[in-house]
Amino acid sequence: MPITPAAVRVSALRLDRGSRTILRDIDLTVAQGSVTAILGPSGCGKSTLLSALTGELTPAAGSVEVLGRPVPQRKRALLELRKGIGVLLQGNGLLTDLTAAENVALPLRTHTDLPAEVIRHLVEMKLHAVGLRAAADLYPRELSGGMARRVALARALALDPPLMLYDEPLTGLDPIASGVIMSLIARLNASLGLTSLIVTHHVHETLPIADRAVVIANGGIVFDGTPAELETTGDPLVRQFLKGEPDGPIPFDAAPRTEAA
Ligand SMILES: Nc1ncnc2c1ncn2[C@@H]1O[C@H](COP(=O)(O)OP(=O)(O)O)[C@@H](O)[C@H]1O
Ligand SMILES: [Mg+2]
Repeated sequence: MPITPAAVRVSALRLDRGSRTILRDIDLTVAQGSVTAILGPSGCGKSTLLSALTGELTPAAGSVEVLGRPVPQRKRALLELRKGIGVLLQGNGLLTDLTAAENVALPLRTHTDLPAEVIRHLVEMKLHAVGLRAAADLYPRELSGGMARRVALARALALDPPLMLYDEPLTGLDPIASGVIMSLIARLNASLGLTSLIVTHHVHETLPIADRAVVIANGGIVFDGTPAELETTGDPLVRQFLKGEPDGPIPFDAAPRTEAA
């Protein structure tokens, strides 16, 4: 079997926020081309894990490799790495005074010297990829929640990153828009040859498109396997999370969010 390098390789990782350890002993290797669901209750550290992959948070211990290289500390090298990572955040982050097309063009204008005509063409292609070519000239306020999420997705794809990180991509969307986003994530992963990590507490919407499921709770990985294995696991901690029960071995929302010092 050919050995493809991992898209993400995390080993013995510990992540702290201030004096609190959020995650410890995290070992995770993500194969290129795969779709991985990172699941777990609110506040368990899913977003914190993503921030270590993008280099926003420096590990307290252990190592993080992304796209075959250790995540650098130096700003310049970090910016270079981030061009290879497409990030879709919960809030979309669209600029309200720019049209959909201008929002998608932003990373291309910032990070490339491409002529305006080429950028226009690339933007059209990205909007087409998310099924929104007709919405190019609309402003964010004129878009539905699902459409705005797709524009944000097109913008995350602007620089053709090989790795996509989705942080709660379904938040605030109705079931139909959620279905559209999920199938889009799966389709883009396959057609563009990407690797996708989807951080979410929406288990049932996400598992159908995932090759692998990782559950985080109580500061560590409590399950790592296929979606089918997850559905049949007997682990009480994991079962509690899957059923959304408030009482059990996982203390839900144990600690309130505090600002970093
Ligand atoms: N910038 C921060 N400063 C201090 N604590 C934080 C910060 N961000 C997150 N936390 C804390 O870290 C824990 C994990 O948060 P987070 O990774 O956002 O969880 P999740 O994404 O799984 O909901 C929470 O207890 C949260 O309060
Ligand atoms: Mg989060």
